[in-house]
Order: sequence, then structure tokens, then C-alpha cells
Amino acid sequence: MSTVRRSISFPVDLLREFDRFSEEKGYRSRSRAVCDAVRYFMSEAGWPGGDEEVVGVISLVYDHTVPGTTRAMLDLEHDHEDLIVSTVHVHLTHEDCLEVIIVRGRAERVRELADSLQTIRGVKELRLMRTRVTP
Ligand code: NI
Repeated sequence: MSTVRRSISFPVDLLREFDRFSEEKGYRSRSRAVCDAVRYFMSEAGWPGGDEEVVGVISLVYDHTVPGTTRAMLDLEHDHEDLIVSTVHVHLTHEDCLEVIIVRGRAERVRELADSLQTIRGVKELRLMRTRVTP
């Protein structure tokens, strides 16, 4: 595999944090870590898309004591009842809840649901894992 050298600008703090993180992960080469990060970013942000059928897992942590959070989540989940296969709810602390939502449907709608959930006030963290459904 051929390689090229390029100069890229980073905010100092971000690069310091990235170096610390990749070192903890066992990377000895910054270039290697950056390549893996770029691949991960592209797979997360750009694949699969559109009309493709996917199954996915949306996991999110939210503070149920924030007014309106639980209601907004439930409304959104009911609006997507055709997409949602199953939901698991775990009470983590007095305030925080973990919700794991298993979805199946068009990739674009899965993405939209995840994006909408992420913008609800009180949602602290959200992850989306998707994989193609191949016949
Ligand atoms: Ni809870």
C-alpha cells in the first residue's frame, strides 16, 4: 500500500488528548492511530445509507429528572414504532438511565431517529451501531 505525507492542523489540546488516548490504546505510531480514527469516522458517519435495510442498536444515557426528557423520548419512540424492535431500560443512578433501543429498517430513518434522540435535552451520550441486513 502506497502512502503519502500530508500536513494537518490540530488544536493543541485535541492533539495532546489524541496522543494520550492512542498511547493508552497501544499505538506506537501517531500516523497509524490517525488512519484508524479516520476509518472509524467514515464508517460511523457515512455507512450504510439511504434505502438500505439495516439493524441497529441505539444506546443512550440520559437524566430522567430533566423536565420533559422522558416524555420527549417516549413520543419519539412511539412515532417510530414501526422501526423499533425492542427497548431495554436500566436505572443507573437516582438520575441517570440507560436505554438500549434495537431498530430495524431503512438506514436513513434509523439515522434520523438517532439524531433526534441525541438532540433531546437531558440526553448525555448516544451511540449508534448499524449493520446491513443482507438477504
Ligand atoms: Ni430509569
